[in-house]
This record gives sequence, C-alpha cells and structure tokens, in this order.
Amino acid sequence: MKIFVDSANIQEIERFERLGVVDGVTTNPSLLAKEKSDPALQTERIVKIVKGPVSVEVVATDFEGIVAQGRKIAGIGSNVVVKIPMISEGIRAVSLLSRAGIMTNVTLIFSPAQALLAAKAGATYVSPFVGRLDDIGERGLDLVRDIVLILRNYQMKTKVLAASIRNVSQVVECARLGADVVTLPPEVIDKMFMHSLTDAGLRRFLADWEGLEKQLGREISPFKK
Ligand code: G3P
Repeated sequence: MKIFVDSANIQEIERFERLGVVDGVTTNPSLLAKEKSDPALQTERIVKIVKGPVSVEVVATDFEGIVAQGRKIAGIGSNVVVKIPMISEGIRAVSLLSRAGIMTNVTLIFSPAQALLAAKAGATYVSPFVGRLDDIGERGLDLVRDIVLILRNYQMKTKVLAASIRNVSQVVECARLGADVVTLPPEVIDKMFMHSLTDAGLRRFLADWEGLEKQLGREISPFKK
C-alpha cells in the first residue's frame, strides 16, 4: 500500500520526503488556504520537491471550467494528478482528461456507486472519505471495503486512495482491506512510528551498554574498522 501525505505544508512534505516513507502528496483547497501563501506558487514548490504523484484540486464546478483548470494544473509537472469533485460535470471532465492522458483523482466519494462511475470515466484514483463518514455515524472503512471489492471484481485500473484518515487503526485496516493508497495527515504518520515497548526496549539496550562501559572503565564500539 502506498502512503501519501495529505498536506500543503512545505516543511512537513520535505520532512517526509527525507524520511523516505511517503510515495506522494494530496492537497485540497482547504489545505492550501491554511498555508496563507500564494496557492499557485505553493503548488509549484510542492511539485518540485515531490518525486511521486501530487494531487491538486480544481475549484471550478462546470465542465468547461474544470477542463480548463485541469489542463493548467496538469501542466505544472508530469507527476501532477488533477483532483476533481464527484459531480456529474466533474465526471464528464474526468472522461475527457483521462482520454487525453491526464491523471485524475475523483474526490469527495461517499458511496460505492459514485466510485463505480468515477472508475468507468477512467479516473486514475478514487478518494473515499473515511473519517467524514465516521463523523456522521456511518462506517467509512466499509466504503473502502466495498470499493476495493467492486473495482477488483471487474479488474478496473482505477486505484483506491483512502482519504480523510484520522488514526493509525484506520491505516492498518485500509492495508488489510487492500486499499492501493492511503493519504495521511502528518500527525497520523508520526503516530505510526510510536510504540511504548520500542521506547522502553531502546532505553534498556542503551543502559545495558553504558553498564558494560562502566564495568570496563572505557568507551567501547561494537564495530571494528
Ligand atoms: O484529502 C482530503 C481529506 O483527506 C480530508 O480529510 O480530515 O478534512 O476529512 P478531513
């Protein structure tokens, strides 16, 4: 399963690029608005930093507007994916853009039927929003399960990109369900590193080593040149 970082923050994106654990980035208008810098410049900076796919969302809602913005967004770089909302004008634009060889990510997916339509239109990715369904008392992970099953039943090429992920347990469940990608806020990736037994184990290893050094009365290195 690929991991994308769901952020438009340069420092965070650079930090995860350095760690080598993320495969791409997703942005959206809300994330770009949070950065309070020119969204076009910010997007260009992100695309330069990231080697993998970067989703950038259109803000038009009519077919012509979506296509025009989509073409401009796609022109920013060869790794750019045009993010398009799950509305009929959007799906029409996905059909056209995907036939033109432009990668697309259909966002705001809340039902298996919507995912099926987006896949039929040729979307590169569909983005079911897990957390927002959980917020209203529905089961976001059931949606991921259904979409994975449906797209696999018909060997459709569209990839399932689970979005609106709020905790580590949802990440693990998405991996169990066979989601192709999860996009994660930085704080969820940070939490994936954590385990109290890792911390306790490392403390013990280092303390035992220090004890050995004290016993021998000198610093020791386990590695010979
Ligand atoms: O990429 C969009 C999605 O991840 C939004 O998440 O937490 O705002 O529902 P959230």
